Amino acid sequence: MKPLPTPAPFDPGYDRSSDEPASLATAGIVHDLGNLIQIASAAINIVERSPDMPASHTGPMLQRARACLDHAGTIVRQNVRHLRDRALAGLQCDAAACLADIATLIGAMDETGLILDLDVAPDLPTLRCDPVGLRRALLNLALNARDAMGGNGIVGIEARALAHGEVELRVLDDGAGMSRETLARVFDPFFTTKTDGLGGIGLPMVERFVRDAGGTIAIESEPGIGTTVTLRLQAMEAGR
Ligand SMILES: Nc1ncnc2c1ncn2[C@@H]1O[C@H](COP(=O)(O)OP(=O)(O)O)[C@@H](O)[C@H]1O
Ligand SMILES: [Mg+2]
Repeated sequence: MKPLPTPAPFDPGYDRSSDEPASLATAGIVHDLGNLIQIASAAINIVERSPDMPASHTGPMLQRARACLDHAGTIVRQNVRHLRDRALAGLQCDAAACLADIATLIGAMDETGLILDLDVAPDLPTLRCDPVGLRRALLNLALNARDAMGGNGIVGIEARALAHGEVELRVLDDGAGMSRETLARVFDPFFTTKTDGLGGIGLPMVERFVRDAGGTIAIESEPGIGTTVTLRLQAMEAGR
């Protein structure tokens, strides 16, 4: 059996101002994937239509089908990673500056019952993420915390560096909390339990931002006790 060629990472090699070469590069990848799927499917069809074929023949056929699909999987994984790295290239975010901006914004809302308790560790490393995205994410989380407390209470925001070049950001409230059913749906676009909210796009947007940045989001919530949302994001110096 001929060995399959090593897949090349996606390199559009084009000027970002024009879409045409990008579509060409994408078409190339789709074409390669199409070929691999076709070879795999042909091999499976032969095996399916030949119930009397000896195992000495069907084995290698199925192996070839599997090799093609593994190869297709490698192409997809490599390119998703490459595209993400390209999108993040050059993006830097000063988390402390971001948190200071959020504090200013919340202060400017002039909501007398709302207190922001910021606990930011000194010397936070620079993050590899979109700074506008992080501001939007933190503001959404802080406003959700405010809503959960009916506008009265303390919204906590904590930031600290972890090992392995990660930074953890936590937004805490001791508001209404969420039922299990609500918690299971919070990342569904347009899911909301509010009648006057922004229509359930906040948390899906935050989740998208975190995913694009290669980070993670976790939510702990207890009805009547409160909610903690934890974001983990990569620092610039984290090995990738
Ligand atoms: N801190 C929180 N405490 C309690 N419930 C929350 C909290 N954050 C989000 N939720 C729940 O998740 C739902 C979706 O949140 P989100 O996507 O921000 O949309 P919206 O705030 O417009 O409803 C909210 O309607 C609410 O039920
Ligand atoms: Mg919201």
